[in-house]
Amino acid sequence: MSELHHLLTLPHRPITEEYYFPKIQHFLKCGVPATYTLEQAAAFEKDSEETSESNTTPLHILARSLPKDLNNEENEVILKIFNIFFEYGAGWNFIDFEEKTIGDLVLEKGYTKDSMLYNRLIEAGVSAELLLRKVNGGDIEFIEDEDILNDNEPGSENTDAPSEIQDVVTEDTDATAANPSTYLKTKLEYKEDSLITKENKDGVMMDWEDEIMKLAANTIFPDLSNTTDSIVLNIGFGMGIIDSYIEEKKPKMHYICEAHPDVLQKMKEDGWYEKPNVVILEGKWQDTLNALLDEGEVFFDGIYYDTFSEHYEHMLELYDVIVGLIKSDGVFSFFNGLGADRQICYDVYKKIVEIDVAMYGFKCEYTTIDIGNHLPDWKDVKRSYYNCTYYYHPRITFI
Ligand SMILES: C[S@@+](CC[C@H](N)C(=O)[O-])C[C@H]1O[C@@H](n2cnc3c(N)ncnc32)[C@H](O)[C@@H]1O
Repeated sequence: MSELHHLLTLPHRPITEEYYFPKIQHFLKCGVPATYTLEQAAAFEKDSEETSESNTTPLHILARSLPKDLNNEENEVILKIFNIFFEYGAGWNFIDFEEKTIGDLVLEKGYTKDSMLYNRLIEAGVSAELLLRKVNGGDIEFIEDEDILNDNEPGSENTDAPSEIQDVVTEDTDATAANPSTYLKTKLEYKEDSLITKENKDGVMMDWEDEIMKLAANTIFPDLSNTTDSIVLNIGFGMGIIDSYIEEKKPKMHYICEAHPDVLQKMKEDGWYEKPNVVILEGKWQDTLNALLDEGEVFFDGIYYDTFSEHYEHMLELYDVIVGLIKSDGVFSFFNGLGADRQICYDVYKKIVEIDVAMYGFKCEYTTIDIGNHLPDWKDVKRSYYNCTYYYHPRITFI
């Protein structure tokens, strides 16, 4: 362990600025990277060029060393130490030798999601994500599992799918979950309680989301006392759970946009094409909704978005379309699996969505719901795409 690493085990109490700041600043000013890992220090000691999968950074060591009995003054000092490290380029999303982020460790130490320390990490995550977009010249590069692990979605359901953060997803070369064009060519299989990709067993949709879909169906009707005049759009049919809830409300028109041939076939078999108020937009929303926009004849009271294998960059494109298709008092919502593989990522994305939609004059309000009892054991699918025990349900409207 290097001297800097040792210092962050907080060997000296009380924790004061006077004791810690000059020492920390000395190391950082001398060029020790704020991201210098235990693994790098060990390789250096062994004079080895071996690289490690994990990245246990100074802030991980600090988070692991936080005493249970910190007083307020000491807490302030810790926060300032975090600030110093972030100023020197520390990362918020590295994964350490136990596959934990700094945020995971801070929460484990008993800090709440409202604590200043945890919120400082979220702030660092939001800034890093937004900065990354800028330095990529507008090309968005989101956090994926691999990135998180090695510093460098969502294989999950859409935004359930991949983002840097978004989903701590591995980059399988055959990952249907991570690549929209591969996914659309992949055979699907309907099971009793899920829709999965036949070969890879990626969960496209699972019925544990039923409660969320019920809530979402209510959300996209701005006036629940009069749903029969509403015109609504659902993007991504999947198992048709939300569409069934929408139909119960007998909307005037119910548009469904769906791209996958196997899903469209199922919709035919189940009679969705015969429903008098249902319009099926066959194809990717990127094509069908832009065509609707060009026609300029239909505007929606409510729009829901829940696709598969799409990334947050797709959502950013979607906002351009939504703003043109939604009525001024309409509501937009989406399945929020953004970063839900990890609590800190989920919290970072919660904020990023607020910031992004605000650019369009929208506000995003979240309802937090406890879903701990609804989560499946994931044994029938290749990997879990949702690991938080709560859900941030978004409701987006014009300010
Ligand atoms: C997670 S499922 C939707 C589940 C749905 N909310 C429900 O309640 O059952 C995602 C669906 O989006 C569809 N999809 C994926 N990419 C799409 C795209 N670009 N345009 C339209 N549909 C897409 C998938 O084929 C799949 O049927």
